[in-house]
Amino acid sequence: MDKKISIAIDGPAGAGKSTIARRLAKELGYYYVDTGAIYRTVAYFLDLWGVSPKDIDGVERYIDELTLNIEYDEEGLQHMIMNGMDVTNDIRTPEISQKASLVAAHAVVREMLLDMQRDLAKEYNVVMDGRDIGTVVLPKATVKIFLTASPEVRAQRRTDELIAKGQKANYKQILEQIKQRDYQDTHREIAPLKMARDSIKLDTSELDIEGVLAAMKKIISDKVAL
Ligand code: DC
Repeated sequence: MDKKISIAIDGPAGAGKSTIARRLAKELGYYYVDTGAIYRTVAYFLDLWGVSPKDIDGVERYIDELTLNIEYDEEGLQHMIMNGMDVTNDIRTPEISQKASLVAAHAVVREMLLDMQRDLAKEYNVVMDGRDIGTVVLPKATVKIFLTASPEVRAQRRTDELIAKGQKANYKQILEQIKQRDYQDTHREIAPLKMARDSIKLDTSELDIEGVLAAMKKIISDKVAL
């Protein structure tokens, strides 16, 4: 089997990773692997069982009951299948965002998900986004990019996104949630959010989506024929 190409995109919540990674994957004809969705599915599952994300005993007791599968539809969209049920749309709530961040701190959870992520990159060319892709999951990724933006810009983007979807959004509350998640994701002991040494940092605060995409393609084209 020839060696596959992997583009690792890490960064804090709301930096635009998923929007950019999805677009990029589509243009390159690669699979888009949204690893946050995997942690969200674990959090959702534990929540259904009434297990607190901080309760390590509960997490260890229930985690074996979870069968997790990733499927792709004909448009290349990733679907999360939890014990045979498609929960792709159920995992996108602010509550599950917070819980996923806490659940993701447990070694038992991270270990369980590691092979699943690596196997996808072994089998396909991927654009994979998350927090520890360049540092832990794919330390030999072909290209590593660290996408970031100020918390205020990220909160404003989330607020605009929700409003555009016709949902309620409170900027101040969203900013607090983002800061809390940044803290949790960067301060955990195992695989914290941090930039890999060989990663290229891209601050998206002053860029729109097209600008970010153009900058990313420039970085990628140094290593991969586009
Ligand atoms: O990218 P996201 O917001 O969907 O991720 C939800 C949470 O999952 C995030 O706050 C931290 C955790 N996560 C992680 O620990 N490692 C990853 N590779 C991806 C997400």
